[in-house]
Amino acid sequence: MILMKKYFISIAVLLLILSACSKKDSPGAGPVTPPPVIPVDTSMYKMMPFPVGAAVSVNLMQNNIKYSGVVKKEYNSLTAENAMKFGALHPSANSYNWNDADYLVNLALLNNMRVHGHTLNWYTSLPTWVTSFVGDSAAWENLMKTHIQTVVTHFKGKVTSWDVVNEDFEDTGIPRNSIWRQKLGNDYVARCFQYANQADPDALLFYNDYGHEYSTAKRTAIYNMIMSLKSRGIPIHGIGMQFHTTHTQSDATIRDAITTAAATGLKVHISELDVRLNINRVQGLTFTSTLAQQQAARYKFIVQTYNTIPAAQKFGITTWNVGDADSWVPGWQGAPDWPLPFDTNYLRKPAYAAIIEGAK
Ligand code: G3I
Repeated sequence: MILMKKYFISIAVLLLILSACSKKDSPGAGPVTPPPVIPVDTSMYKMMPFPVGAAVSVNLMQNNIKYSGVVKKEYNSLTAENAMKFGALHPSANSYNWNDADYLVNLALLNNMRVHGHTLNWYTSLPTWVTSFVGDSAAWENLMKTHIQTVVTHFKGKVTSWDVVNEDFEDTGIPRNSIWRQKLGNDYVARCFQYANQADPDALLFYNDYGHEYSTAKRTAIYNMIMSLKSRGIPIHGIGMQFHTTHTQSDATIRDAITTAAATGLKVHISELDVRLNINRVQGLTFTSTLAQQQAARYKFIVQTYNTIPAAQKFGITTWNVGDADSWVPGWQGAPDWPLPFDTNYLRKPAYAAIIEGAK
C-alpha cells in the first residue's frame, strides 16, 4: 500500500515538472517556431534589401573592440548617437569641436558605410550659451543659420543626409513651444531646411520625430506639415520615424505609421529603432526567452511592413545603438531593459534573425 502511494506521488511530481518545463519557453499560447539559423560569418547588411544602420557612441567605438567589430561587420549606415548634436559640435559661441564627429565620419567612410547626420536643430541638448543667448530675432536667426551652415559645410560630401529638424511636435500634435519657435516663429522649420540645402544641395534632408506609431494626432500633424513644406517647394527629402517602441505595440498602429509616412512620397527612414520590454518599469524583471520571442516578432513585423513601401522610398532602418548594455532606455525609464538586436555581450538575439527574416 505504502509502495503504491509512493509510486503515484512520484508520477505526479514528474508530470508537474514536465508541464512546467514545456510552459517556460513557449511565447503565449502558440507553438514555438524555431529561429532561423544565421551563419556566424553573415553580415546583416548583406542580407537586407535596404541600408541598415546603427547609432553609435564614439567612446565605445574607440574603446570596445567587440562593439566596433559588430558595427563594422553588421551595418552599412552609421548615425552619431550624440556626437553631432548642437552642444557636442558647438560648445561655445565661437568654437566648434569636430574631433568626435570627424572620427566617426572617417571610420564610416573607410568601412564603406553611409553617414546620416543627427541633428541640426533640436529643442534640447543645447549648450548654455544658446539657452542663455540674448538678442533680437535677427541675432537668433543668425545663430541658427550659422550653426546649420557651418556644420553642413564641414561635412559636405561626407554626410549623405541630415535630420534637419528633430522632434518639433508634442504627442498631441501641437507644435512644440521650443526656444526656436519662441524666438523665430512657426516658419523657422522651413528656413532650417533652406539653410541646410544652401550649404549642401546634394544632402538629403529629413524631418525626424517619435510617436508616429502611438499618436494618430502627432502622425497627422507631421504629415500635414511635410505636405505643406513640399507644396511650397521647401527642400525636404525624407521623413524619419524614430520608432522607440514596445513589444506590445499593435500591428495596426505600426502599419498606419509606416503607411502615412510613405504617403508623403518622401524617403522613409526608421531612424532610431528599439523595442523595449519593461513597459511597467519592474525593477527585478529578467530577460526571458518568451520576451525575446515577443520582441523578435515586433522587429520582424516592423521590417516586413517597411519593406512593402516603394523601393525608392526605402532609405533604411537604423537601430538606436547596438547592444543592450549601450541603450539609452534603462537610464531613461529607471528600470532594466533589453531593447536591441544584440545582447550585453554583442551576441545576436532572436531580434537579429527577425530583422533579416522580415526583409525576405
Ligand atoms: O558626455 C557627458 C559626460 O561628459 C557627462 O559626465 C555626463 C553626465 O550626465 O553626461 C554625458 O552626456 C550625456 C550624453 O547622453 C552622452 O552619454 C548626456 O547627459 C545625456 O543627456 C545624453 O543623452 C542622450 C539624449 O539623446 C540627449 O541628447 C542619449 O545618449 C541619446 O540616446 C538620446 O538620443 C535621442 C535622440 O537624439 C533623439 N530621439 C530620442 C533619443 C532618445 O532619447
